Amino acid sequence: MLKILLERRSIRKYKDKKIEEEKINQILAAGKVAPSGKNKKPWEFVIVEDREVLKKLSMVKPKGGLFLAETPVSIAVIGNEEISDTWVEDCSIASAFIQLEACNQGLGSCWVQMKNRFTKDGGDAEEAAKEILEIPTNKRLLCIIALGYPDQERPAYKEEDYL
Ligand SMILES: Cc1cc2nc3c(=O)[nH]c(=O)nc-3n(C[C@H](O)[C@H](O)[C@H](O)COP(=O)(O)O)c2cc1C
Repeated sequence: MLKILLERRSIRKYKDKKIEEEKINQILAAGKVAPSGKNKKPWEFVIVEDREVLKKLSMVKPKGGLFLAETPVSIAVIGNEEISDTWVEDCSIASAFIQLEACNQGLGSCWVQMKNRFTKDGGDAEEAAKEILEIPTNKRLLCIIALGYPDQERPAYKEEDYL
């Protein structure tokens, strides 16, 4: 497990290569078995593959999310605060599990934060992205996780990074 934890790095450049459905399913499984407060699992994971939708999402927060336009697949991590007051913690842990399983599957990933972030003209990034994804107003969008075969080298963490 530590090997995967050390190897996982944020990857922001991806090959134009389709991700196998089986890999996506394993990644989603990792998110779904994450621990959550009172085991409420107040999350939904929405797969986004439509190029036009990804392009629109990339423009919501170009500074930290332009690369979403070039991802083969991204996962929107949606929380429900009506189900649990620990939705942020729960969805964050699930997101981390998703990223770790992506790494285990030989894929790169990067968390693109939407909650508490702003569009380039000062609007609410979460609301803008929710509109694009047609997420109901009572639900929250924590982040979008970009996924793909890495097209950049990032060194694994080493002992000197944690000792
Ligand atoms: C809560 C959170 C929000 C993040 N938001 C963004 C983001 O909006 N855009 C981005 O490119 N990276 C984002 N990242 C990735 C971080 O920049 C990255 O994890 C950090 O620089 C450490 O690098 P590493 O992931 O390679 O270890 C986010 C990570 C976390 C955990």
